[in-house]
Amino acid sequence: MKTLEIKPDIFWVGAIDWSVRDFHGYVTPNGTTYNNYLLMDEQITLVDTVKYDFEKVMTDNIISIVDPSKIKNLVINHIEPDHASGIARIVSLSPDITIYITAKGKKGLDRHFDTSNWNFKIVKTGDTLNTGKYSLMFIETPMLHWPDSMMTYIKEAKLLISQDAFGQHIATSSRFDDEYIESASQAELDDSVIDYYANILMPFGQLIKTKIADIQKLGLDIDMIAPDHGLIWRKNPGSIIQKYLDLANGKSSLSVCIIFDTMWHSTELMTIPLMHGIKDEGMDCKVIKLRATPMSVAIKEFWKSRGCLIGSPTLNNLLYPSVAEFLTHLRGLRPENRIIGAFGSYGWGGGAVREAYEAFNKMKLEVFEPGIQVLYKPSIEDETKCYDFARDFARKVKEYHKQF
Ligand code: FEO
Repeated sequence: MKTLEIKPDIFWVGAIDWSVRDFHGYVTPNGTTYNNYLLMDEQITLVDTVKYDFEKVMTDNIISIVDPSKIKNLVINHIEPDHASGIARIVSLSPDITIYITAKGKKGLDRHFDTSNWNFKIVKTGDTLNTGKYSLMFIETPMLHWPDSMMTYIKEAKLLISQDAFGQHIATSSRFDDEYIESASQAELDDSVIDYYANILMPFGQLIKTKIADIQKLGLDIDMIAPDHGLIWRKNPGSIIQKYLDLANGKSSLSVCIIFDTMWHSTELMTIPLMHGIKDEGMDCKVIKLRATPMSVAIKEFWKSRGCLIGSPTLNNLLYPSVAEFLTHLRGLRPENRIIGAFGSYGWGGGAVREAYEAFNKMKLEVFEPGIQVLYKPSIEDETKCYDFARDFARKVKEYHKQF
């Protein structure tokens, strides 16, 4: 593997995972990368490691630059195994290495490894490490997205190593945002950022705003942001910070997504007049069938639109299981600033639409009610009711959207 010097004497020594399609339950159709960085300074320092499957790739990358036994410091910004499971390999190659980590990070490592002979230096926000010409400052970012998380700022390089924050799951031969935009597109990059944010960071919008404000107060001069996944931001690093602020502030497109499942196509048939009603109010509408769509894609599409209609047939007086699963997943992500309604079909007792609203009321969402339901199969009259329901919903979405 060829390494890459991203700043003078600072090298990307990570790995490209072209084949991962299931990242602990999230689909990653474009693979991902595990980025880590080697500082060839007076004190040679490695920032983060990689997932265990790629330990050899990382080690070979390092060996192409320096004998690993000469690495003096290892900074661990985040202990999730996709970044920290390579630690034991590094310690075995450089047994006297000192690990710079937050207190909660060390507690986590103690559960994953026998750390009794490892050297640790516990750090908190503002603590520094001078490696020679470079000085590293640590910035704790608890719950972004684990309790142990932190970032590392290298002042003389104007470089922020941001661990998961600002990352994307993209395997590519490009290492920088501008290269990728040239070979793919800005839209593809934006979509990957939203996918990552929606599925991992959605619950932490308030924390993100606070932490970005804290970082801005520190007055750091940043001209490159290097996350631990995907592309490095060098073209305009301010744009990804602004994008995160927009996402945290609830910015979305004025559109509606319909997320549904169906047993004998009745609920599916309802989506047609619903979609037309929304389109006729001048809004784009995406329709997603849950069992045909990975959960994380449905979550991303939910997050991209201001409004969402959830459709479910009734099964045993309850929501259809795939719809219940989606709503459980969504609730855990603590969504805000979106408006939601429900529709569905039933054969005798009903219950799916009622249960959908019970789920909505456990979330901080604007709820549009009552929902709409049809017996067995939508009649022509039912289709008209669905169309009118969707137009009413779309008008409400437009009104709600004005505050953002
Ligand atoms: Fe990429 Fe939270 O690990």
